[in-house]
Amino acid sequence: MFTLCTVFVLFLGVVHCQFPRACTTSEALQSRTCCPHWEDGSPCGSESGRGQCRNKVVPVKFSAGQVRQVYDDRLEWPLFYYNSTCKCFENFSGHNCGQCKYGYYGENCDRKKTVIRKEIRQLSSEEREKFFSYLASAKTTNSADFVILSTGDRHHRDTYRFVDASVYDIFAWIHYYSIKPLLINGLFDESRNYAHRGPAFPGWHRIGLMFFERQIQLLTGDEDFAIPYYDWRDEKNCSICTNELLGESNEQGFLDDNSHFASWKSICSGYNYDETYCQTAGDQCQMERLHRKPGVDPFVTSLPSSQAVNDTLKWKNFDTFPYDHRSTRSFRNVLEGFMRPSDGVTRESNMHGQVHNYFGGTMSQVEISANDPMFLLHHCFVDKIFEQWLLRHNGTPDNYPENGQLGQGPNECTTPYFPCYRNKDFLRSSSHMGYEYSVYKGM
Ligand SMILES: *[C@@H]1O[C@H](CO)[C@@H](O)[C@H](O)[C@H]1NC(C)=O
Ligand SMILES: *[C@@H]1O[C@H](CO)[C@@H](O)[C@H](O)[C@H]1NC(C)=O
Ligand SMILES: *[C@@H]1O[C@H](CO)[C@@H](O)[C@H](O)[C@H]1NC(C)=O
Ligand SMILES: *[C@@H]1O[C@H](CO)[C@@H](O)[C@H](O)[C@H]1NC(C)=O
Repeated sequence: MFTLCTVFVLFLGVVHCQFPRACTTSEALQSRTCCPHWEDGSPCGSESGRGQCRNKVVPVKFSAGQVRQVYDDRLEWPLFYYNSTCKCFENFSGHNCGQCKYGYYGENCDRKKTVIRKEIRQLSSEEREKFFSYLASAKTTNSADFVILSTGDRHHRDTYRFVDASVYDIFAWIHYYSIKPLLINGLFDESRNYAHRGPAFPGWHRIGLMFFERQIQLLTGDEDFAIPYYDWRDEKNCSICTNELLGESNEQGFLDDNSHFASWKSICSGYNYDETYCQTAGDQCQMERLHRKPGVDPFVTSLPSSQAVNDTLKWKNFDTFPYDHRSTRSFRNVLEGFMRPSDGVTRESNMHGQVHNYFGGTMSQVEISANDPMFLLHHCFVDKIFEQWLLRHNGTPDNYPENGQLGQGPNECTTPYFPCYRNKDFLRSSSHMGYEYSVYKGM
């Protein structure tokens, strides 16, 4: 075991967040410029009219970078690291404008596509096999384009390192990174993060799934790949926790040796220190195996009902003051799981949060939960409910409120993506972003 670990450490050792690899060179960091060259040799493909390197245009509240006290590196993303990034034109996107916008494809990104996300039990056996083999490649192939940020001490920027990670682990890291408590003037604020407890919640997770879906399409060349969802309404037990699907758990709660994810380990486990970012990244010996204990927590013995989903969908207001976990009669807060769906005002754990807690283990440790592929299937269903709400209430970016949550303003860039996507932009039907949902059990 010792030898194996040593080999891993050497192999994965420190190379230099979803940071584009090309933007983590010392030149890029010193010049504060993340405008990688596209194939035509120009930054952001500017000579081919794909995009342009420009100063960030998001309104600055904190003049990040000039403040001398310790503050949060993700605030006013991505100003702490870069003041120039790519702005992509027309149908182009990606950190160097080398990709197409979500929903477009082809060399000139002038063709539209729509993939269909299905319930995992609707997949043919061939589609299922593909899904599990794609996940296996994603877990074992280092990302060519992105690296992650690692440090044991968030207070000291000179300890920050950029480290290789697999395509799947980049996704798990993005969630982990966005959830770390805010660091303001040297103090941690546990009540806030960039992905939860505020209006960004549904859209933040939407772009997360879109990003991962696209990474899988690029990795496998399968442009039609779509993430499946798990419709957990009224499930008495986790019926997809079989070794053919998401895996059984053994007595200790680890995934069964004969399941698809038996050998998966959680990147950034050791999550529970505010001052670190994934300090064990790359060290296989320190990573925990995936674990899950569906229905074992005596306080969470069931999954949400279809009545709860119906009740969630009736709330007309996307979100309400004070735009956090206390918001009442707020679709976002009910969906996130902080209020009873039927009345919108009684605090209880329901919906999204209840499902995380029901699974226990990795899924219930919010910072590392994205390591369990159950997270993908769960959030894909949460996104389907969000989509139903958008269709029913004609949701548009105008419904996204101004609010006091740092990083969750309508015009702020969603943490931690390149190029900038504004938080409000995800408040429209997924058909604009290249995917739709199958109908399953009447929804
Ligand atoms: C961007 O950062 C560089 C390096 O810190 C600095 O010289 C330059 O003035 C900055 N540009 C703007 C527009 O803030
Ligand atoms: C963008 O895509 C649309 C839809 O396919 C297409 O009509 C349009 O020409 C594209 N724009 C450019 C500049 O290629
Ligand atoms: C629930 O799941 C457990 C473990 O997979 C299984 O043993 C049990 O039979 C299931 N119960 C029902 C009611 O399906
Ligand atoms: C939820 O709403 C759907 C569609 O309106 C309906 O068919 C279904 O019966 C409702 N479920 C419950 C439990 O009320």
